[in-house]
Amino acid sequence: MKLMLFATRVVALVLITWQAAGAAELTEMPANPKGNVLIYGAYGYSGKGITRFAADYGITPVLAGRNAEKLKAFADEVGYDYIPLSLDDNHERIVEVLRGFELVMHIAGPYTFTSKPMIDAALVAGTHYVDLTGELHVIEAQLARHEEYVKAGIMVMPAVGFDVVPTDCLNYYVAGRIDNPTTLQLIMNNEYSSAEGAAASRGTIKSGIEMLSRPLKTRQDGQMIEMTQPKVITQEVNGEERSLVQIPWADMITSWVSTGVPTIEIYQIASGGELPGWLPWLLRREWGKNLLVWLVDNFFPEGPPPEAQEKRQTQLIATATNKRGDSASAEMITPEPYLLTFHSALIVANRILDGQWEAGFQTPAGLYGADLALEIPGVTRRDL
Ligand SMILES: NC(=O)c1ccc[n+]([C@@H]2O[C@H](COP(=O)([O-])OP(=O)(O)OC[C@H]3O[C@@H](n4cnc5c(N)ncnc54)[C@H](OP(=O)(O)O)[C@@H]3O)[C@@H](O)[C@H]2O)c1
Repeated sequence: MKLMLFATRVVALVLITWQAAGAAELTEMPANPKGNVLIYGAYGYSGKGITRFAADYGITPVLAGRNAEKLKAFADEVGYDYIPLSLDDNHERIVEVLRGFELVMHIAGPYTFTSKPMIDAALVAGTHYVDLTGELHVIEAQLARHEEYVKAGIMVMPAVGFDVVPTDCLNYYVAGRIDNPTTLQLIMNNEYSSAEGAAASRGTIKSGIEMLSRPLKTRQDGQMIEMTQPKVITQEVNGEERSLVQIPWADMITSWVSTGVPTIEIYQIASGGELPGWLPWLLRREWGKNLLVWLVDNFFPEGPPPEAQEKRQTQLIATATNKRGDSASAEMITPEPYLLTFHSALIVANRILDGQWEAGFQTPAGLYGADLALEIPGVTRRDL
């Protein structure tokens, strides 16, 4: 028995050493990009989560990020090759790196600062691009460049995480069940216990700060229009009267692209933990924004702990209506948003590597259909 235990330990040690020895800094890029995936922002909370599941999807990524030390430490841990790469004033080098890859999974945010330099380089290098952004102004800017992506023969698909894969798929599903839908309403029910740990990663909070420091918008009659306050309504949810607060979810752009439905409203069940009214005022001041980012970087946990990822679930309810008064509703239950994101991003990456891509700005349900979300472990859907 002792001998077996010893032998198992030796094998484990050899495997770990072999894995670590497998991590090397890439100085020359692969000559043929086919099948190669670069994960940029790999040592962030979500980058790590995605990287750790990559092998389950048959993907052997190369890791990248701006901090060489943090990147090497994580690459050594997981055994993948890596490339330190800054996004600041570095266009030529980013192009040179991307030329070696068929797909870049861009996992570094806030995307307010990171999306454009990566897309600028992807256009020149001919590399497909996916990211996790939920920042509305970023997605609007990405959508505006659709023709450039078509000309370059690349696909740009933002928001391949919790925001927006399940919601886009559910919206697309209900919109397809009635004629000429004119309104989509999506309700998100995710009241987590704070005792289980953080609900969001630092990167998500900092991206939220970027969004809240800009005008609030809503999709109405085909246009994105500014509003002063988020709408608050009362509606029956799961047989109970609940107060719902409108949230700036990216579906207002992505589900509009996927479905063409002109009015889209996303609500969250009010839980008493809503953002204070003075927060947007503070965030529209540069010093206020900097102060909050500093607090997040120094005092907030990196993200939900693994136990919370395993335990939490989210309920989504989407309803499509039309001018005739027809309506269709469906419910989706999803795993915890970050755990879902790790899987959904890799599922989309695999589709692209399989040749299922279309040049231009694309959305998850628009390109892959409503059932894409059902491929994510733990996701279920039922008609209401
Ligand atoms: N849509 C969704 O459902 C969803 C889910 C998960 C995450 N996200 C988004 O994904 C992004 C990353 O989230 P996270 O949880 O991984 O956050 P995180 O733990 O804070 O990691 C952020 C990563 O981005 C890098 N980064 C930040 N600014 C950069 C810049 N200017 N240049 C190069 N690298 C930069 C960071 O590198 P340093 O450490 O060197 O700063 C780090 O690697 C956020 O925008 C978040 O909102 C969205």
